[in-house]
Amino acid sequence: MGLLRIAILVSGKGRGSNMAALVEACRDGRIDGEVVLVIGTRDDMPALQRAQSLDVPVEVINPKQFESDEEYGQALLASLERAGADLICLAGYMRLLPLSVVRHYPRRILNIHPALLPEFGGQGMYGLHVHEAVLASGAKETGCTVHFVDEQYDTGPILLQTKLPVEPNDTPETLAARLLPLEHETYIRAVQMFAESYCRTGDGTTRPTIGSF
Ligand code: GRF
Repeated sequence: MGLLRIAILVSGKGRGSNMAALVEACRDGRIDGEVVLVIGTRDDMPALQRAQSLDVPVEVINPKQFESDEEYGQALLASLERAGADLICLAGYMRLLPLSVVRHYPRRILNIHPALLPEFGGQGMYGLHVHEAVLASGAKETGCTVHFVDEQYDTGPILLQTKLPVEPNDTPETLAARLLPLEHETYIRAVQMFAESYCRTGDGTTRPTIGSF
């Protein structure tokens, strides 16, 4: 059985800490996989610089350069296929993924969200907005969620969650800072769960080995 081939998508001005955590976990054996490609939406992204400094192949596919979301999707699909991606990880990818990509990789696209979905998700719920909403709600705990990606924001089936208590003096910034290392750990564990559930067939395709995937 070969290593799981992972492609990571980042967008905007993403810093890429989850991306880097996944790359490192593949290299030190915590994930039975390798990050074969990082795709970003702009060439001045810190996340892409970070990927390059880790010697991971990067590509820029800027949605603004396409006439339609469908064409953007076709460009993404072409790259992902060329890279032979088995699994796609969104890591600070704040856009809705084109439908053609979602449909091409059913249950093979993961995302990490910095809250306990299904609460505090959906369009506009990213970055500090999420933590502001958590604090405003008076919730006693928050956390992060790794879920499969479907056709909407943050609604796909949940694979793994980690909880974190909210402290009385927390601000959106302190919550984000305490959560980030937990995000990295959770994403690594979830990707390894996925890797363990997949086996590679002789013809280079992958197929699930446990029913729920
Ligand atoms: C993380 O908080 C993740 O949960 C969310 O976007 C942020 C990306 O951070 N989807 P980083 O670029 O991985 O540091």
